[in-house]
Amino acid sequence: MMEWIASAAFGLEGLVKREIQSLGIEPVMVQGGVRFAGDTLTAFKANLELRTADRVQLIVGEGEAHSFEELFQLIGSIPWEDYITKSAQFPVTGQCARSQLMSVRDVQSISKKAIVERLKKRYKSEWLEETGETYAIHVAIHQDLVRITIDSSGDALNRRGYRTWVGEAPLRETLAAALVDLSPWYSGQPLHDPCCGTGTILIEAAFKMSRRAPGLIRPFAMEQWRFVDKKLCDNLRREAKFRFNPDLVEGLSGSDVDPEALLLFKKHLAQAGLAGRIEIFEKDLRDLGPLKENTCVITNPPYGERIGSKKDTESLYRQMRKLETKAHAKRVCVLTANPAFEKLYGKRATRKRRLYNGRLECEYLIF
Ligand SMILES: C[S@@+](CC[C@H](N)C(=O)[O-])C[C@H]1O[C@@H](n2cnc3c(N)ncnc32)[C@H](O)[C@@H]1O
Repeated sequence: MMEWIASAAFGLEGLVKREIQSLGIEPVMVQGGVRFAGDTLTAFKANLELRTADRVQLIVGEGEAHSFEELFQLIGSIPWEDYITKSAQFPVTGQCARSQLMSVRDVQSISKKAIVERLKKRYKSEWLEETGETYAIHVAIHQDLVRITIDSSGDALNRRGYRTWVGEAPLRETLAAALVDLSPWYSGQPLHDPCCGTGTILIEAAFKMSRRAPGLIRPFAMEQWRFVDKKLCDNLRREAKFRFNPDLVEGLSGSDVDPEALLLFKKHLAQAGLAGRIEIFEKDLRDLGPLKENTCVITNPPYGERIGSKKDTESLYRQMRKLETKAHAKRVCVLTANPAFEKLYGKRATRKRRLYNGRLECEYLIF
């Protein structure tokens, strides 16, 4: 049995845990993610199906290191030859926090040296060409505790493989999936995003409704690993394709003032296998007419920092209250980085949660 960690953005660990549980895997929540035990197929399933996790990493070693010598010994004691083939590439990255070893550069180069030394001995070779498949190694040190992992995902999991260009202010797909999961919206209830841009939130909702695995059309680094059975992975992917049913998507709609963002949205939707399944129209939020009865709104309006001026944005926030009155939205859920949002909106949120959009601290407000 191998040990894995599904890493998650701050505030999303609980959601990742729930998702792992629903895949029938026993999760343990730890700082920065969720650990679980399982074979390579279990990890492949996690890569394919997790909507809110950043990456899935194989834990290959753990221990204490207070000096570079201890680090060298620890890394050198890992049976790297069981994982890494003679011609494989194995880039090493590092991370240090509150530890005696705080130089990331040194941690990286010493770890790399320890791995190279070990592999050279085992493969009886003076030269490792590093041209084959990739095993991206990460050495994280926190309070002198070292965790050594190999990344099984490749590109981060928010890259679902349907996006060609990201638009002006993209919302990470993993965060969009979290906004959907943390909202009171349920499959079958009408859902509208009045600042939908390239449609990330609505596409994540459509994935959920249509039972589409988020990683359905993208590759994962682990599929190239020599100890992974590619055929079994292909079978899982085929099952996921079979489960995906676009006909289940209904009641989703999005509007925005930016016609170019909407064009991208349509393109992305088609590339995700959901062409025409979401109603998309150009409209200023301030002119939005009545929405379908019982509509839930989930949206990520402009922050005023990145797009548009602060004043414009604040006047837009004031107008957003009309979503509840003029547009008859039953619930309104807003991700915002503006601490004055509730004041401008003119009402206190019934639920609040701190989340991060990249490095930007935001609040997810539910009215
Ligand atoms: C932070 S972005 C949302 C990004 C979006 N979640 C995505 O996945 O691309 C804010 C969006 O609000 C739109 N917007 C700004 N002012 C608006 C208005 N008055 N009415 C409707 N949309 C507006 C912008 O065009 C932009 O697409």
